Amino acid sequence: MASDRWSSRLGFLLATTGAAVGLGNIWRFSAVLGANGGGAYLVPYLLAAFSLAVPMLVLELAVGRTLRSDVVSAFRSVDTAYTALGWLVVGGVLLILSYYLVLTGWVFGFLLSWLGGSGTTFATFTEGWLPVGYFVVATVVTGAVVARGVRGGIERMSKIVMPTVFVLLVALAGYAVTFSGWGRAVEFLFTPDLSVLTDPALWSAAFGQVFFSLSVGQGIMLTYGSYTDEETDLLRSSLVITVSDISAALLAGLVIFPIVFSFGLQPTLGTELAFTTLPTAFASMGFGRVVAVAFFGLLFFAALSSSVSLLEVGVAAATNTTRLGRTRATYLLTAGVFLVGVPSALSYSPLDLTVVGTPVLDLVDESVGTYALPLSAICIALVFGWAADLAPVRAELGRLYPVVRYVVPPVLALVTAAKAAGVARPAWRLLLD
Ligand code: PFF
Ligand code: NA
Repeated sequence: MASDRWSSRLGFLLATTGAAVGLGNIWRFSAVLGANGGGAYLVPYLLAAFSLAVPMLVLELAVGRTLRSDVVSAFRSVDTAYTALGWLVVGGVLLILSYYLVLTGWVFGFLLSWLGGSGTTFATFTEGWLPVGYFVVATVVTGAVVARGVRGGIERMSKIVMPTVFVLLVALAGYAVTFSGWGRAVEFLFTPDLSVLTDPALWSAAFGQVFFSLSVGQGIMLTYGSYTDEETDLLRSSLVITVSDISAALLAGLVIFPIVFSFGLQPTLGTELAFTTLPTAFASMGFGRVVAVAFFGLLFFAALSSSVSLLEVGVAAATNTTRLGRTRATYLLTAGVFLVGVPSALSYSPLDLTVVGTPVLDLVDESVGTYALPLSAICIALVFGWAADLAPVRAELGRLYPVVRYVVPPVLALVTAAKAAGVARPAWRLLLD
C-alpha cells in the first residue's frame, strides 16, 4: 500500500514530535493547569502519560508499520465491518483540525501584529473579520505542506520548525528566570497538592489533556508509523516523543507563569490565557516586542506541524481508499475542513456565532476533548488490541500489550463518563436559563 517513507530516523522523530508538540502544550496545557490548581495536576498528568499514552503510542506506531496503511485501511484489514469506524476516527481528526486551524490563524495574526507594531489584544483582534482571513492563511499553508508529500513536505518542514520551537522555548524560559514572579511560578507548577487528588474532575482533565497533547489514540501516530522503517525501536521512539512533549509543556509553563505572577495576572483564565492575559504583559515588559514575536512565532510553528499531521491522516486515508492522488486529495480535504471550520471561525468575529450561549469553537473543542478523543482511542485499543491479533504488534508491545487490552479501554471509559457527568450539568443549566 503506502510506499512513502521518512528519509531517516531523525526525520521520523522530528515529524512525530512535531505532530505532538502543538497548541496543546502551550495554550491548552497552561489553561488546564491554571484552572486545576497548578502542580496538583502534574501527578495524574505524568501518570497518564507514562502508563497509558506510551503503550498506546507504541500500539499505533506498530500497527501503522506492520500494516503499512492509513487508518481506514487498517480498520478495514481487521474486518470490513470496521471500515466505517475507521472513517469516524478520521472524521473526528478532521473536526479537530477545523477549529485547530482557527486557533493557528489567531496565532499567526498575533505574530504579524507584534512583528509590525505594538501587538493587539483579543478584544480588538476579534472586532473585525481579520481572524477569518488568518484562518484562510493557516488552512492554505497547512494544505501546501501536505500536498508536497511525506518527505518533501512534512519531514522537510519538521526539520526546520521543531528545532526552532525548542530553541525559542528555552530562550524564553531563560529570560523568564529574571522575572520577579519566577519563584512563585516554579512553586505553582511543581508543588503537588495531594489533597485535590481525590477530585475525579482533576483526573479526567489530566487524562484528556495527555491524549490531546500526545496526539495519541487518533490514528495520527498510526499514519506516521506507516512511513517508518523496520529497524526503528518504537518503544524508544515513543519515550522520546512523550518526554519531548512533556518538556515542551513544562517549558511553556516556565515561560507563561513567571509572566502571569510578575505582572499580577490571573493564572486561572483558561482559554484566554495565551491570547488575552499574556499580550497585556508583553506590552509592558522590557524587550516585550521581541518576547511576543518569539512566543507567537514558536506557537505558530508548533501549531503548523500539528495541523499538518491532522490533515495527513485524512489525506493518507483518501489516497489509499479512492483513486485520488495526493495533490487532489489534499485540495479536496483542505476545502472540506475549511467549510466545517467556518462556524468556529465566526464564533470569534463580529458575528459572535454561539449555540446555547457558547461560542461554537468552544463547543467543538469541549465536545471533541470530552468525547471524540477518548472514544477514538478506545476504538483503536479494542480493534487493534482485541479484534486484530497481529504478531509483530504484540512483539513490539511486549509487556505493554496487556495494558492496551485491559487497562486503556476501561480507564478511558471511566474518565469519559466522569467528564460527561460534569459537563452535562452546566449545559443543562444553560437550557433552563
Ligand atoms: N498534539 C497536538 C497538540 O498538542 O496541540 C495536536 C493535536 C492532535 C491536538 C490531536 C488534538 C488532537 F486530538
Ligand atoms: Na502536544
